[in-house]
Amino acid sequence: MLPVVDKPAIQYVVEEAVRAGLSDLLFVTGRGKTSIEDHFDRVYELEDKLEGDTGKAGLLERVQAATELATIHYVRQGEPKGLGHAVLCGAQHIGDEPFAVMLGDDLVDERDTLLTYMVDVQQRHGGCVVALMEVPADQIGLYGCAAVAATDETDVVRVTGLVEKPPPEEAPSNLAIIGRYVLAPEIFEVLRTTLPGRGGEIQLTDAIEALIDRSADGGPVHGVIFRGSPLRHR
Ligand code: G1P
Repeated sequence: MLPVVDKPAIQYVVEEAVRAGLSDLLFVTGRGKTSIEDHFDRVYELEDKLEGDTGKAGLLERVQAATELATIHYVRQGEPKGLGHAVLCGAQHIGDEPFAVMLGDDLVDERDTLLTYMVDVQQRHGGCVVALMEVPADQIGLYGCAAVAATDETDVVRVTGLVEKPPPEEAPSNLAIIGRYVLAPEIFEVLRTTLPGRGGEIQLTDAIEALIDRSADGGPVHGVIFRGSPLRHR
């Protein structure tokens, strides 16, 4: 709920999803995150108050906009067992179709069309698509890192390997995963048997890596290289 300029950071993420054509959103929340649910609920008392004040029409619109962006659902991750586990919490809601994962603490500029492009790449190639960004070699250990092969599409690569937060000397590239993914539903089956990895957590990176080896049923894994500068707040 950290405010960025004039709205909570999480609202930028919701707006980005809506711009990419996604209208059914599931938040995976946990302890201490109830203010997110309140933010996207309607606050009739406040709306009534603003409606009665002609000078506040602009404010009323903005309050209502937060609640009308998309259909929003919530599921709680009862224990912090890692990003892979958090994604698995959405399995029942999502069912058998491709879906996007957006990490609320990675923000991209409102003018960037990264997620829209990733959805397009997934629709054309199937499988999974991760967002990648070049980082200085000494920072790769803060991210999941991808080994890649070129394709003939600009800024689209084939991902041939993934490793979660490698020491710089073991990193296969300087391409870091940033918090946007478009995933095939086969990921759930893999996540159910993914053992805790780096940091003792069930890592989404490890599950996607497993899908690379079984591309017959999970489809290929592609990366879209993001050339903007995301804001990471954590
Ligand atoms: C998570 C992922 C990591 C990714 C990062 C992007 O790590 O596990 O692969 O690079 O998000 O922000 P976290 O920073 O949550 O530990």
